[in-house]
Order: sequence, then C-alpha cells, then structure tokens
Amino acid sequence: MRFDVITLFPELLEPWLAAGVTRRAFASGAVQVRLWSPREFAQGAYRRVDDRPFGGGPGMVMMAEPLWRCWRAVRADRGLPPRRVGKTQPEVPTVLFSPAGRRLDHAQVARFAAADSPGAILLCGRYEGIDQRFVDACVDEELSLGDFVLSGGELAALALLDAVARLQPGVLGDEGSAVQDSFHPALDGLLDCPHYTRPEVWNGPAGPQGVPPVLLSGHHARIEDWRRQQRLLRTARARPDLLEAARVAGRLSSEDLA
Ligand code: ADE
Repeated sequence: MRFDVITLFPELLEPWLAAGVTRRAFASGAVQVRLWSPREFAQGAYRRVDDRPFGGGPGMVMMAEPLWRCWRAVRADRGLPPRRVGKTQPEVPTVLFSPAGRRLDHAQVARFAAADSPGAILLCGRYEGIDQRFVDACVDEELSLGDFVLSGGELAALALLDAVARLQPGVLGDEGSAVQDSFHPALDGLLDCPHYTRPEVWNGPAGPQGVPPVLLSGHHARIEDWRRQQRLLRTARARPDLLEAARVAGRLSSEDLA
C-alpha cells in the first residue's frame, strides 16, 4: 500500500520513517511513503503557501491553489486522473488531519492497514487551517488524533503511519504481538494486561516488589485467565466505554461479567 503525505515540513517526518521498529515496513516497501511539499507547487518569487484569513482574525490559512497543484501531482504520480467524480468511493481516499475530524481508533487504522487497502493521500494542515474550498473539493475524510489542538497534522500522520506499519505481517519481531495489543478485536477491544520481566523481585522506591505468582507458575491456562481478568479490570477502570462496547457486541462471557 502507498501513502502520500502532503506537508509543509517533510523534514519533520523523514527521521521517524527512517528509524524504529516500523522502519522495516517502510524500508521493505510493504508500506510505501512519499512526502510532498506544497511549497514546490506554489507560484511567484516567494512561493507563497499561506495568506491571511478573509473576514479577519489571527493566524494564516493554507491557500487552495498550491495544495491543489500538489494534490494533482500526487494523483498523476499514482496514475490517477486529475479529478474525481463525486465523493463516493474514491480510488484512494484523501485524508485531512485536523481537530475537526473523527477520532482515530483501531478500527480506522485497521482499515488503512488491510491487505487490500490502497493507502491514502494524507494531508497535514498547518496554521489556522486550510482554505475550505480545497477541503470541499478534494478531501474525503477528516481524522483527529484527539480532543486537543496540535500545531499541525504531521504528528497525526506519523501516528497513523506508525500504527499501520506495525499491523503489517512480519514487521514486529514477534509476529503475533500486534494481535495482543490494546484495542485489537482479537482481545475484544480491551486494554492490554500488565507485563513483567526479570528480576523476580525488584528493589525499587516502593521497596521489594515481586511478580504476580501466577506468571511464574508455568500454568498456561491459569496465566491466560489472569491476563483476561487484568484486561477486564484495567479497561473497567480506565476505559469503561470500551468495556461497554465489548458487552454490547456480545464479546464478554458470563465469567467475564461475573
Ligand atoms: N492538527 C491539529 N490538531 C490536530 C489533531 N488533534 N488531530 C489531528 N490533526 C491535528
């Protein structure tokens, strides 16, 4: 799958894509990422990409024309026609990151990460926003990282790319581990359980702390039961909404609910 990221700051994204666990997904081409700067498509001696908002107010707004030229170049590079007809079923979705979007969650990430996903054109907003005419004409969906405002969509684009990469088969050292992550449907969308490693007793600021004995028992069924209980407890405490969603979806057994 291929992701084209339109950003005024490609240099912010490059180091992240070149490092870390997900590097393999990008280096192997399993997830192709190309970075595009609208500034290269801007006109005039100053290659202006932003201007003051009509109606007044603080900040600057990203101009429609350089974005459109850049977006067309991306589409041409992907072998797509310069325009789309209507907004239904785009061949490749154009996604704008902004606080006004739907909140990104596991289901959305899984959709972009699926084997038959074409990827997306990811647009990182900056300044006070983007000329709405470009959004109306070219954007298919808006996604937000959460109920707070970032100084741009770059971190949100990286968050999506990172999450997509780690869902690709073979990208994580232990192939199964994405399946055991928080929010994964394989674990009914619950939060992950706590983890422990050596030493068995750690002398830290709280004094000697042991490991839950069941984890040392070697009894796999009991360990699995304990992990399930911990996931349920953690989710009930921190994210009762997820527990309720699992209950409504019929994913909790009578033992879980006890
Ligand atoms: N750009 C600015 N704030 C954002 C947010 N919360 N999510 C995604 N993109 C953003």
